[in-house]
Amino acid sequence: MLSVRKAVFPVAGFGRRFLPATKASPKEMLPVVDKPLVQYAVEEAVAAGITQLIFVTGRGKRVIEDHFDKSYEIEQVLKLQGQQALLDLVQNIKPSHVECVYVRQPEPLGLGHALLCAGKLVGKEPFAVVLADDLLVGEPPVLAQMVRVFSHYDCSVVAVKEFEPEESSAYGVVSGRYWDERVMSIGKIVEKPAPDAAPSNIGVAGRYVLMPSIFRHLRAQLPGVNGKLELSDGIQSMLKDEQVLAYNFDGTHYNCGTKLGYLKATVDFALCHPELRGSFDAWLRERICDGNAAR
Ligand code: UTP
Repeated sequence: MLSVRKAVFPVAGFGRRFLPATKASPKEMLPVVDKPLVQYAVEEAVAAGITQLIFVTGRGKRVIEDHFDKSYEIEQVLKLQGQQALLDLVQNIKPSHVECVYVRQPEPLGLGHALLCAGKLVGKEPFAVVLADDLLVGEPPVLAQMVRVFSHYDCSVVAVKEFEPEESSAYGVVSGRYWDERVMSIGKIVEKPAPDAAPSNIGVAGRYVLMPSIFRHLRAQLPGVNGKLELSDGIQSMLKDEQVLAYNFDGTHYNCGTKLGYLKATVDFALCHPELRGSFDAWLRERICDGNAAR
């Protein structure tokens, strides 16, 4: 049985839904309270036993490399000021046994294309794909749940959740046959269908554990109507040869690629944050009661 050691983080997208915030700063660095989205994603991957993080970066994404690198200046200042707790925080962003590797996607030509850019680094072993703008909360963490399902069934696994029917054009949508309450054998996957063309209301939630055969299927795909090479089309092609499972994970999905999903995550995380819990909760209740939101 092969273990899952590598995770690909495609972070080369355009981020148009968050402009102008994403004009010079990556969407994946947007903070939810005090931690960037990409750090939550990395922590989830590390908790699943991943030891190599492969970032597919693009224009304007250097700050992600800096975030996971040592910062001598900040560490020096915190040391001099005796701020040990903050020093530990910046020194432990990535555990020392975990390695970061970076590859560029010259243009954002789709998630499938981003994965192809990481193909050589992944090689011929199963690997995870983590989309940092999907923030998932679960216990155990969602990617760890998926690695368990992968090890059990020895085939590719895609994380899914139910969505509202009118949201279909924001998701890769799957349909198939349920084996049990959480596991479905996928028969069909369609990228961002219109509501009347969606095969179900079960959508992919930004986590995949894939067999390396996906690269062969992606290379054989032609770009879609918008010129993008979609991962969902590669997976649909994979279904001709092998099984792919949809896993309805135990946890919560925040679609932080949208403003509403990002705000929901921010509120929920603030309500659980040790520094903010009490004061934010009180403020929020007051705000809701008097309906007097600032404009
Ligand atoms: P999204 O489609 O949600 O991100 O891709 P986007 O394209 O940046 O967002 P909008 O639609 O313009 O607002 C999901 C993830 O895949 C990455 C993105 O960076 C994001 O983390 N991605 C997407 C790539 O790395 N390359 C691509 O060509 C497309």
